[in-house]
Amino acid sequence: MQASEAEKPRIVILISGTGSNMVAIADAVKEETIDAEIVGIISNRPTAEGLNKAQAMGLHTDLIDHTLYASRDEFDHALIRMIEDLKPDLVVLAGFMRILTADFTRYYEGRLLNIHPSLLPKYQGLNTHQRALDASDDIHGVTVHFVTEELDGGPNAIQAIVPILDVDNAQLLQQRVHEQEHIIYPIAVKWFCEGRLSMKGNNALLDGNPLPDSGVQLDSRDQ
Ligand code: GAR
Repeated sequence: MQASEAEKPRIVILISGTGSNMVAIADAVKEETIDAEIVGIISNRPTAEGLNKAQAMGLHTDLIDHTLYASRDEFDHALIRMIEDLKPDLVVLAGFMRILTADFTRYYEGRLLNIHPSLLPKYQGLNTHQRALDASDDIHGVTVHFVTEELDGGPNAIQAIVPILDVDNAQLLQQRVHEQEHIIYPIAVKWFCEGRLSMKGNNALLDGNPLPDSGVQLDSRDQ
């Protein structure tokens, strides 16, 4: 029997920009690949393109402009209040470009996912594509992980490997990584909503079994 709308896991997605990962997840919910309800999209930037996309998809949107808050602490507490109004089971960071305080990450521990464009723990922080090129790496990729206090440091749920080609520059590489983001983020969200993906201590678990440090690894060369 299909779960009624009221029983479905409630997802809040936080964005700052284009929102293409938000759209990939929202599409998977619309197509019923993910059995969940997206109860709100929150942006910290008034100009985020993703806000228009969310509205066009009929999703509820909220704006919380971080520039109007005196401190990171005040902003994060206001953000928690805004999220809590939506009563989420899962909070998804999809290109949300704010460093979060420990108060925030502790509050949502075990139900806060992020996507980061590198094979974590490699290349935490910014400019990941250029840094992989500068290091002459053969492979690069993207990771979905649980968020903890350590920036880009929580346990990995799933990664996609993207080969680095001789012709690559940061923009070309970023495009191929983005394609993989739109595959792995809906998978991770689906697993979470089905109760298959969880976090215990500093481990991500799938079906109750601890995942390797990389998380589940997909290789785009196999597609
Ligand atoms: C994505 O590439 C995501 O990996 C990255 O921001 C982009 C957002 O794209 N996130 C980070 O760099 C987090 N450290 P989108 O707005 O089109 O989903």
